[in-house]
Amino acid sequence: MSLILAAEHVPAIMLPPLVCLSSERTAEAALLMSRYGFTQQAELPASGHALVLDADKLALFSLGKGAPGPVWVDFVAGAAGWRRKHGGGRGQGVAKACGLKSGATPRVLDATAGLGRDSFVLASLGCAVEMIERSPIAAALLADGLQRAAADADVAAIVARMRLHHGSAVALLTAWLGERPDVIYLDPMFPETRQKSALSKKEMQAFQAVVGADADADGLLAPALALAKDKVVVKRPRHAPNLAGAKPAYSLEGDSVRFDCYLAG
Ligand SMILES: C[S@@+](CC[C@H](N)C(=O)[O-])C[C@H]1O[C@@H](n2cnc3c(N)ncnc32)[C@H](O)[C@@H]1O
Repeated sequence: MSLILAAEHVPAIMLPPLVCLSSERTAEAALLMSRYGFTQQAELPASGHALVLDADKLALFSLGKGAPGPVWVDFVAGAAGWRRKHGGGRGQGVAKACGLKSGATPRVLDATAGLGRDSFVLASLGCAVEMIERSPIAAALLADGLQRAAADADVAAIVARMRLHHGSAVALLTAWLGERPDVIYLDPMFPETRQKSALSKKEMQAFQAVVGADADADGLLAPALALAKDKVVVKRPRHAPNLAGAKPAYSLEGDSVRFDCYLAG
């Protein structure tokens, strides 16, 4: 696992404060502030959101009456761990859409990495995955999850295949200097999302509230198609309109989502 920082374009969203609860992690808190632009606060706010760094992990907390539980990235246990062991392997929708079903193991670029759940599925099936994430909050949570997973004997080899770039996907795809990916995967936020999620609906809403809507998502398709060797896969809620109004070559339908596949070249 490695983290690459790039010039950013992030929706104008107020960053939550960073609260460090571990006296042994003050240097890491300082690194998070300089890397992602967070400001530190000594106490948890009474309401709103805060990023909390404790002895174990970094988590996004929602605060106040009736607030949902915290959100953090856990590739070892929880939903990702369960899915890795029992999740259906190459038969999973994201794997089939990216072409793993046919025995290939493509190089994938996930240009909207979020909390890295789809990327982790692909990496656990053997794919090398480059990830791009522009939100400082999502990127910090994801980098923290990757770092903890790298210390676990069972998943270290999987996250070694995952590389996170923090920045705008449009800028990074356009100026990509590495090997061209076989598949580019796009899963931008959709308003009023109906995507099935490992997080409960309330937690996902809290995550979306701080990360912001991806109102510029249509602009991802053209640079992705220009860079991908084989295809671009777009995950959409089942009844959502096509990204950028573009008709895919074919779609794979799931219960609540569909994967629209656009052939490159
Ligand atoms: C629905 S989430 C992706 C969830 C992800 N597939 C997962 O499995 O966890 C969409 C993410 O894409 C990011 N994003 C949207 N547009 C982007 C862009 N142009 N550049 C980089 N990141 C982007 C958002 O910040 C958000 O974190």
